[in-house]
Amino acid sequence: MTVDSSSTRVLPPELDRRYPVIARGEGVWLTDTNGRRYLDAMSGGSMAATLGHGRADIAEVAREQARRLAFVHNERLTSPAQEQLARELTAVAPPSFTRVHFVTGGAEANEAALRLARSYHVERGEPDRWRVISQAQAYHGPTIATLALTGRPGLQGPLAPYLPEGLHIPPSTRRLDPTGAEALDALDRALEEAGPENVSAFFCEPVSGAALPAYTPPERFWRGLAERRDEHGFLICFDEVVTGVGRTGRWFAAESLPFEPDIIATAKGLGAGYAAIGATICAEHVYEAVATGSGRFPLGHTWNGAPLPCAVGSKVIEVLRSERLIERVAERGPHLRDELETALAEVEMVREVRGHGYLLGIEYVDPRDGESFLPADLGVAGRVDDAALANGLVVLSTQPTGDGYAGDQSLFAPPFPSTDGELAEMVDRFAASVREVAGEVERELAGERRAPAVAAER
Ligand SMILES: Cc1ncc(COP(=O)(O)O)c(C=O)c1O
Repeated sequence: MTVDSSSTRVLPPELDRRYPVIARGEGVWLTDTNGRRYLDAMSGGSMAATLGHGRADIAEVAREQARRLAFVHNERLTSPAQEQLARELTAVAPPSFTRVHFVTGGAEANEAALRLARSYHVERGEPDRWRVISQAQAYHGPTIATLALTGRPGLQGPLAPYLPEGLHIPPSTRRLDPTGAEALDALDRALEEAGPENVSAFFCEPVSGAALPAYTPPERFWRGLAERRDEHGFLICFDEVVTGVGRTGRWFAAESLPFEPDIIATAKGLGAGYAAIGATICAEHVYEAVATGSGRFPLGHTWNGAPLPCAVGSKVIEVLRSERLIERVAERGPHLRDELETALAEVEMVREVRGHGYLLGIEYVDPRDGESFLPADLGVAGRVDDAALANGLVVLSTQPTGDGYAGDQSLFAPPFPSTDGELAEMVDRFAASVREVAGEVERELAGERRAPAVAAER
């Protein structure tokens, strides 16, 4: 069963879309109200449901916690559930990370990271440091502050007048800047423009989610970034909203880089889709600045650190450990990438398959030259998602950004417990969907049929 804008009271993201009505989930399967089943290759659609659907063990912990103590506000009260999750999360975070501020989602975690970076500098007597430099081709959330961190005009849309002015650098992708040298030059220019003594933080994803699926800058960029931090004194904040808590085959993607960031924001996988919870985790020196300064990090939301979502977070960590799921993602991820690549090998529209654990990205190009972005008005990304849904598969693709940094691309991010058989079926359905769209696109590019209107950017 589906609903459209004429049959729902919900204000949906896209009013011209028909939405399947999902009634239940079990493992990697979603079932709609008519009993139609979909394989979930996107962990609930936005990479949150990392443990799959319908787990009785997590539901039971949530039920028990709700009965014992569902809610107290952490401004004046704490709970065993919050204290325990803080201990567990810092135990799996990179070594110098010692303190956690709980929030309810990704954008909030990123905003708290921005505030914590700002507090760090103010507490240390550098109140002029407020400017933030970030990647232009990024997504850090839909709130005003996090929307300003991306340089994508299509995402900012009419909200642009509300957004603080950001300093953005282009991504060092294979196409634009394969060595990372140009991104470092752009970083130097941004530091110069702001005045390095005014820069609070550099903000980025260690491995991109939706904005550039499974892309990570080259080693040279990371080393150069860390050198500039040492020289100029800004902090490095990692948005690990997608990559944190196992998605790339490590607890945090930061572990794979040659330096530690100062602040990490994480969310989706922490509640695994069973509770709305995120966290901003900081290294000891960031905490120390606040502790030896004002001793205050005020302003929070009502649900921050509430017992119910925290209890779920602890259970998620326990399940990841006891079922060795992060090891499974690390071991199986490279094979899954190879299987996707093999299944898509004959499709000329597919330029690259990237992968870090169970975060995989497929980049599409114009099959006529195998390199240019596809014409935006073909709306290829949206059509891949629609074809997949028709084939009983949930994936998520992103649209061109209009600034030339990225073309059509798909994300493939299954739940961690997916069996080999389920992964194989996901790959088959995905490859069939991409082949269908590629066939149509080739005919349209040859002038046989008019292209449909472009779908909205994501
Ligand atoms: C990398 C990244 N950061 C931040 C966010 C925002 O998280 P939330 O939607 O939980 O606010 C998202 C959401 O998709 C994301 O992918």
